[in-house]
Amino acid sequence: MDRHNLDGDEAVRSTNDDASHCKRFAVHLGYWSDPYLPLLVRNTDRKTPEINRGYFARVTVITNMVEKFIKAMKGNCQIVNFGAGFDTLFWKLKGAGLPVKKFVEIDFANVTSRKCHYIKNNSKLMEALHCDDEEVSYNTTELHSGIYHLASADLRKLSEVESKLKECSMEFSVPTLFLFECVLVYMPIQFSHSLLQLIADKFSTTFCINYEQVNMTDRFGDVMLSNLRSRGCSLAGVEACASLKTQEDRFILNGWDGAQALEMNQVYHGLISPQEIQRMHLRGMERQPRFKVELVKHKLKM
Ligand SMILES: C[S@@+](CC[C@H](N)C(=O)[O-])C[C@H]1O[C@@H](n2cnc3c(N)ncnc32)[C@H](O)[C@@H]1O
Repeated sequence: MDRHNLDGDEAVRSTNDDASHCKRFAVHLGYWSDPYLPLLVRNTDRKTPEINRGYFARVTVITNMVEKFIKAMKGNCQIVNFGAGFDTLFWKLKGAGLPVKKFVEIDFANVTSRKCHYIKNNSKLMEALHCDDEEVSYNTTELHSGIYHLASADLRKLSEVESKLKECSMEFSVPTLFLFECVLVYMPIQFSHSLLQLIADKFSTTFCINYEQVNMTDRFGDVMLSNLRSRGCSLAGVEACASLKTQEDRFILNGWDGAQALEMNQVYHGLISPQEIQRMHLRGMERQPRFKVELVKHKLKM
């Protein structure tokens, strides 16, 4: 898609195509296994080995962290994937025998309508949504079942987010993991701050995994920013991506009890198994980390 003529929000929405095409190609090459992604994304355009490795690390680490959370909570938990795009985590967890009480995905209506269309038309994706004979209901932009909800909202509008969480019957007293995979950076920080504050205020026990850029004030960051801006996509929330500390501070400032940000090199060695790392090293040299992942703990008593 030519993004030169897209308005800002359309350019942001189209980043889902970038992410899902990159994941799809890496899955196609066998970097990790995801039988559900080809049901949502056909495109297998070639990407560079660096991109494949980056996505491998991103997906592997986030999946590992989510699985750890579910096991620690013994499944008595909820997950909200904000800006979920075409992510397949719900189906992967269900397939791995790790279902949760409720899994909610929220994105712009243009993105959820396309995902809704693909899910409705695929029996394997639909099958996973059924739980205790509960009906699956849907319209053009949303899909709701007892355990899975795909809902549309603009995350910059708190009232929309609040009413969607209510419609999805979220339980504020159940431990809940919030996932932002390359999402907050696309909104001005006053909006991401309010969203993080809302979560901290509403839910009694929350975790958050936030994956996005870090060290964005150096020359490489400048180049990345001007490249994206020339394609109509401003990283409106880049201010929070100056350092690991600015990333941690955004949580502490907004009512969270703690935050720990790590660069991806640390994550590779701490959270991915040596066997998987060895396989990646055989495919090429690692580059300087440009992204980090963080786990934020809020009011959890284990
Ligand atoms: C880079 S994509 C990432 C998609 C998915 N999280 C992944 O990593 O594969 C960013 C996603 O965030 C969504 N997004 C960004 N800003 C949003 C907003 N204000 N409201 C709803 N969704 C938003 C976009 O539509 C897009 O699907």
